[in-house]
Amino acid sequence: MKLGALLLLMMATFVQAQSDFTKVTKKPFGKMPDGTPVEIYTLKSGKIEARIMTYGGILQALQAPGRNGRDADIVLGFDSLDQYVKTENSAYFGAIIGRFANRIAHAKFTLDGKTYTLPVNDGPNSLHGGLKGFDKVVWKAKEIKDGVELTHVSKDGDQGYPGTLRVAVRYTLQGNELRIEYAAATDKDTVLNLTNHSYFNLAGQGTGTILPEELKINASYYTPTDATQIPTGEIAPVADTPFDFRKLTVIGARIGENNQQLHFARGYDDNWALDNQNGKLAEAAEVYDPATGRVLTVFTTESGIQFYTGNFLDGTLTGKGGHVYKKHYGLTLETQHYPDSPNHSNFPTTELKPGQRFHSITVLRFSTR
Ligand code: BGC
Repeated sequence: MKLGALLLLMMATFVQAQSDFTKVTKKPFGKMPDGTPVEIYTLKSGKIEARIMTYGGILQALQAPGRNGRDADIVLGFDSLDQYVKTENSAYFGAIIGRFANRIAHAKFTLDGKTYTLPVNDGPNSLHGGLKGFDKVVWKAKEIKDGVELTHVSKDGDQGYPGTLRVAVRYTLQGNELRIEYAAATDKDTVLNLTNHSYFNLAGQGTGTILPEELKINASYYTPTDATQIPTGEIAPVADTPFDFRKLTVIGARIGENNQQLHFARGYDDNWALDNQNGKLAEAAEVYDPATGRVLTVFTTESGIQFYTGNFLDGTLTGKGGHVYKKHYGLTLETQHYPDSPNHSNFPTTELKPGQRFHSITVLRFSTR
């Protein structure tokens, strides 16, 4: 190779490496009603940009290019902290959910022979950690390589859960992958189920429903629920049901079918038992938007994933840029343990004991095709 060509190649490699670097910046994002300041961290790598705030550990915005190179914000949310804090039922947009993602039946569970009572906030059940879950606390934050580490100490008895729980959630952006890593430790036996509750719309937030998008979930089984959306305990095959997403399928293709589960939830809102149950990071799901070419691939170490089609969005929430969020305007793929696990001995355990360290990883990869 000629010297000139070699120099050009070296320069191109350097420019590429530069654009793959993740730039992390921090800005104030308002104050809580009690004056506590909230910050927002921006993680930027190439054309991907993620914004994470210390309130609720919320992924507030995610910019990703489509196949034509044009960027769009592909997560639902609000423009200001005030809207997150003051909107009653803000749908958990983008938030970290804890101590227990999804529902616990009748807001009760028994551990080591003792019954614990939780706040009731969803019909007869407890949803997403209670009245003031991890989505509503201001996390401590510090910049780390490629991202931000959020930490929170949940006191013994917080929202009815036993043990002082120390939690750390690390958001890092490497190339086109946003990695969410959860760690936790307790000083008493407890139960724990952590997730992130981002609503995606690969065509761009607020632009329409997610029904034309295509989905694949690497799961041969799911956990059907009763009318209050508590798992019956059955781990049922997806074969020959509208819950079979083992091949990329249009989300809206079967959502209107006469199916009891779809009726209960007014759309998809169930937990899939992933084929990968060995705790190693593996592909769990993929969403593809034929219109813009955007692809979201989800990898997780978790054993379950809650796929929810924004059935309870009803046009009452006005989000970023004045967009009104209607039914099915976003979808969630919440990597987690199965809902109501403490009340089902046949589900993978959600117990955490002193001396053990909870650790789980989810990676969101953004690409196009
Ligand atoms: C649940 C839905 C619930 C939603 C709240 C999802 O994780 O599965 O049933 O309505 O969270 O926004």
